[in-house]
Amino acid sequence: MSAAKAGVPMVNLRPLLDATEAAWRANLERLFTRMHFILGEQVESFEQELAAAFDARFAVCVGSGTSAVELALRASRLAPGEVIVPALTSPFTAQAVLAAGYRLKFADVDPATLLLDTADAASRVTARTRAVVPVHLYGQPAPLPSLPRGVAVVQDACQAHGAPLRYSAPAAFSFYPTKNLPCLGDGGAVLTNSRSLAERVRQLRDGGRRNDQVSRIRAVNSRLDEMQACYLRAFLPKLVEWNAERSRLADLYDRLLADCPGVRPVARREGSVCHLYVVRVRRRERLRKHLAANGIATGIHYPVPLHQQPAFREFAPKRGSFPIAERACREILSLPLWPYISGKDVQKIVDKIREIEPRTTV
Ligand SMILES: Cc1ncc(COP(=O)(O)O)c(C=O)c1O
Repeated sequence: MSAAKAGVPMVNLRPLLDATEAAWRANLERLFTRMHFILGEQVESFEQELAAAFDARFAVCVGSGTSAVELALRASRLAPGEVIVPALTSPFTAQAVLAAGYRLKFADVDPATLLLDTADAASRVTARTRAVVPVHLYGQPAPLPSLPRGVAVVQDACQAHGAPLRYSAPAAFSFYPTKNLPCLGDGGAVLTNSRSLAERVRQLRDGGRRNDQVSRIRAVNSRLDEMQACYLRAFLPKLVEWNAERSRLADLYDRLLADCPGVRPVARREGSVCHLYVVRVRRRERLRKHLAANGIATGIHYPVPLHQQPAFREFAPKRGSFPIAERACREILSLPLWPYISGKDVQKIVDKIREIEPRTTV
């Protein structure tokens, strides 16, 4: 069922647009007066505003979150080798590692938070390991592993806008329309405290050029559009309020589901910005179908662990190598969550869940 047809979609951008209309209209008006559509004043201003809001020294906007991970890795100038990623994350994390020219290696996740298991990741580091990519999954700040000297960290923060992160290691963000800070298409950014890394990402995103027509390094075309920056600049000042709303609604789900033992919320780490509200259910397909039949959309983030996805199989050890991620992928279900979903809708979703996942009787 498409989100548009569903009684309760997974995400609805309409109220976010309504709440910020005056700001994005003013930005668009200015853009259409200047008629400068690529790497102009909207992107430049947004980069400064984003860095200030997230407490980073530099922000460089690119064409997508995938590109942000790829370019952050490439700008880290590591020798050829392998990069460790969690077995449970978006497949785009792994695609970005491959696009940057590295081999993939997987590590398992923590059973409570489903974030990278830092001890497991550290134990898989070899002489060929160049970097680890912790993913701030579902909006939770992931712990960073302690690694031998020379092994870099690149943070996949595509789901964690506004979380308390540090930028000594570069962090990649996505502005895909479902994210906490969305745009109306594809977009992304690399945040870093390193001037030289920021400069390299700027060069990599723009054909290897430095504001001229000379390609100095092999690079890509991955620039955030001015038009997307018009919306992002309008949304950014609302992010703290929107994240607080997400957090309040996630707490409401927690409370309402507390006596429903068949539906267990995934633990949220301190500082989570509640990008997704994820529960674990044994009979997931049955619940999914029941909710869909009642007009309630759900998602699965993610249904197949990376080492079992066809594109990455050549890097995979045998089945059963990442038991926590494999089990989680069979049980996780994301329920609708966005800043303006009503408490009444959350109650309705939980009521429908209870029709087939009964309460405890104590
Ligand atoms: C954890 C994670 N990594 C990477 C990506 C890729 O971002 P994008 O879709 O903007 O390329 C996403 C978004 O889908 C994501 O959630």
